[in-house]
Amino acid sequence: MDYLIGIDIGTSGTKTVLFDVEGNVIGSALKEYDIIQKKIGWAEQKPDSWWDATKGSLKEILDETKVDATKIKGIGLSGQMHGLVLLDKEGQVIRDSIIWCDNRTTAEAKQIEEVVGREKLVAITGNPAIAAFTLAKLLWVRNNEPENYSKIDKVLLPKDYIRYKLTGSLMTEVSDASGMQMLDIRKRDWSEELLEMLDINKDFLAKVVESHDITGYITEEVAKETGLSTITAVVGGAGDQAAGAIGNGIVSSGDVSATIGSSGVVFAYTDSVVTDVEGRIQTFCHAIPNTWHVMGVTQGAGLSLKWYRDTFCKEEKEEAAQKGCDVYEILTDQAREIPAGSEGLMYLPYLMGERTPHMDPYASGVFFGIRANQGKGHMVKAIMEGVGYSLLDCLELIRENNIPITSIKMSGGGGKSDVWRQIHADLFNTEVKTINVSEGPALGVAILAGVGTGVYKDEKEACEKIIGIKRTQAPIQENVTYYKKFYPVYKELYKNLKETFKEQHTLLSE
Ligand code: XUL
Repeated sequence: MDYLIGIDIGTSGTKTVLFDVEGNVIGSALKEYDIIQKKIGWAEQKPDSWWDATKGSLKEILDETKVDATKIKGIGLSGQMHGLVLLDKEGQVIRDSIIWCDNRTTAEAKQIEEVVGREKLVAITGNPAIAAFTLAKLLWVRNNEPENYSKIDKVLLPKDYIRYKLTGSLMTEVSDASGMQMLDIRKRDWSEELLEMLDINKDFLAKVVESHDITGYITEEVAKETGLSTITAVVGGAGDQAAGAIGNGIVSSGDVSATIGSSGVVFAYTDSVVTDVEGRIQTFCHAIPNTWHVMGVTQGAGLSLKWYRDTFCKEEKEEAAQKGCDVYEILTDQAREIPAGSEGLMYLPYLMGERTPHMDPYASGVFFGIRANQGKGHMVKAIMEGVGYSLLDCLELIRENNIPITSIKMSGGGGKSDVWRQIHADLFNTEVKTINVSEGPALGVAILAGVGTGVYKDEKEACEKIIGIKRTQAPIQENVTYYKKFYPVYKELYKNLKETFKEQHTLLSE
């Protein structure tokens, strides 16, 4: 039997999964790390913490499963998108990586739109200037840390740094490169026009290939350290959202997914480039040649519940340890007891600002409608509902752009909670499906590795073979009616607070 590996370099940890070619999980390991937040709104990580986690998880899996490493045909890399990794001429990291949820780059996003023009920017890159994207982060370094900027030899994304460490090759692929905002998404290559306008050296950027293309092989040094073999190929892989979409079988027109990881994303496959005139949804190359996708992103989805868990749930953590279960199961049980609408408690999930639909780095989290009869269960349910409302904002934009939606698959850590899934079925007023495999991005890039190394004919064939529907949850009409009534209240809260968020941010920055 042959094997494939998917490595997902996430925000809270790196997950490595070994699959057989039928998509069964043979071994899996997760190594966690933290976000460094030196100032309000800043978010950085050390690229070497990703590398240590990658090596550690690979070694653990190979030691535990004892598979013959020469049977591992390929590795696919998935990762948190948009992060800025700067390397000098010696291949050394210049500064900590400024990651996707960092919000320091509002001025740079403005600068990009002023220089390039919004219309041209959307036409070339598929998106208006977005502070979270790599280009704004690179300009921030040029504007604020000229010494670091002068040392740059290569600008990489998080997973592409790991590729460099695994294989020695400096490459990227179309799906993640789209999120750097320097790619012409129609040509699926760097936009020389845009780079010239912004005076960015094209040599900073790595060669860009399709997601299933082979980019290199495991080096001898890494083979010795981890137990891998030098005959194992590493393919392009994909940004975590495109990777997760392949792992959910989002490979044809009409396929849509809603994923709750640290961020929350509604993702739709498209056969051609569809851009929102107002730039409220994002358009990227999909990880399958000649296809694209649109997505709406909520910055603080799973991140909201994780924040709540880590801040308020000491007792629940102890209970989970005693019962030998996950603390999120206990939180889900608390939320199960609470009626739809959390008896008036509402939550805005803007802990890290917000992308879709507000594009507002100043927005912050809010609990609204707190009353003396409410307890912890209400808070958990309100967080789940707040994330659901924000994903509904994303879905509405996809509907508005006339993109076909035949089914919605839910996934990610949050998708494991039946209560959270039901909230989405009710809010979307649509059936929500869960699939038989739950490895999302890691499976997606393992499939890409299988296509690149000839194990599968193409992505569609692999998904048909591996992915099936496990369960379907229908909307509960009573809840649908309730949420329809309160969705305008959710929307009104942001409108009313927009200026106050900004004022408070200004005061905090003084
Ligand atoms: C997508 C995005 C997130 C991050 C972290 O645009 O910002 O999905 O990749 O998960």
